[in-house]
Amino acid sequence: MPELDDRVAVISGGLGDIGRACAVELARRGADIAVGDRDDAGRAEPLRAEITRLGRRFQFALVDVSDAEAVRRWVASVEKELGLPTIAVPNAAIVEMASMAELTSAIWQRHLDVNLTGAFHLAHAVAQRLVELKRPGRIVFIGSWAGHTAHAHIPAYCVAKAGLRMVCKCMALEYARHGILVNEVAPGVVNAGLSRSLFDKDPALTRRTAASIPTGELMQPEEVAVHVAHLCDPRSRNATGSVLLCDGGLSLVTATARQP
Ligand SMILES: NC(=O)c1ccc[n+]([C@@H]2O[C@H](COP(=O)([O-])OP(=O)(O)OC[C@H]3O[C@@H](n4cnc5c(N)ncnc54)[C@H](O)[C@@H]3O)[C@@H](O)[C@H]2O)c1
Repeated sequence: MPELDDRVAVISGGLGDIGRACAVELARRGADIAVGDRDDAGRAEPLRAEITRLGRRFQFALVDVSDAEAVRRWVASVEKELGLPTIAVPNAAIVEMASMAELTSAIWQRHLDVNLTGAFHLAHAVAQRLVELKRPGRIVFIGSWAGHTAHAHIPAYCVAKAGLRMVCKCMALEYARHGILVNEVAPGVVNAGLSRSLFDKDPALTRRTAASIPTGELMQPEEVAVHVAHLCDPRSRNATGSVLLCDGGLSLVTATARQP
């Protein structure tokens, strides 16, 4: 029997590359899937078809995670339509390139609003409902190696991901006694999102980047999803407040050697 049979998972930014891969992996393992994203752009229907083909139910909602009330309404609508969500994957994020010199307070604020506060909104809404109903659950934040490694071209993103790590730890501490385990998956360079659009345009950049990673390869979204699913597996009972770092060894390389 699939290990997540009949659980309901909510995934923010679930129409993006990594979010979609998480949706499919969790569905494959038996979960019904609720996806929220700030825009559809024709991406929800193909995902619905894929999840339905796997025999699982699917709900899509337009939601901006930076709006706490909208996230609460979304989580309530998921409960009504699919059942109580016991798995949350706060995954939605933006990344805009702007060095410290180029940063504006608007860019800074957008990163905090979406990547940090938005992730908190979803995790908090789901966890508080679980506490209220005395039900166990799992929260898996999608963090990044940028949460502990400074990147000169995306400082606002780095700061938001560093903050997210502490949200994860504080929630893990608070909710452990309620049977809610809270962890982070921290990928390195994934062939997804903004990185993918850069790699698609520039094969030489892809080769250079892969060569700078100790394992010699870019990570694929499906691999991130496997780590997320592992942390949702009911047989994993004691991992909480942890960071599952999957960066191909990037964090082990010194800053000087890392920069291509
Ligand atoms: N791509 C990488 O190299 C990489 C590496 C490490 C971590 N990550 C993390 O993985 C996660 C997914 O990134 P991805 O690479 O799949 O990017 P992506 O751009 O493909 O997906 C992000 C999704 O979030 C959605 N989103 C953005 N703002 C939102 C908002 N306010 N409300 C709701 N949805 C919103 C977007 O519409 C998009 O569908 C992010 O948390 C990112 O920080 C990515």
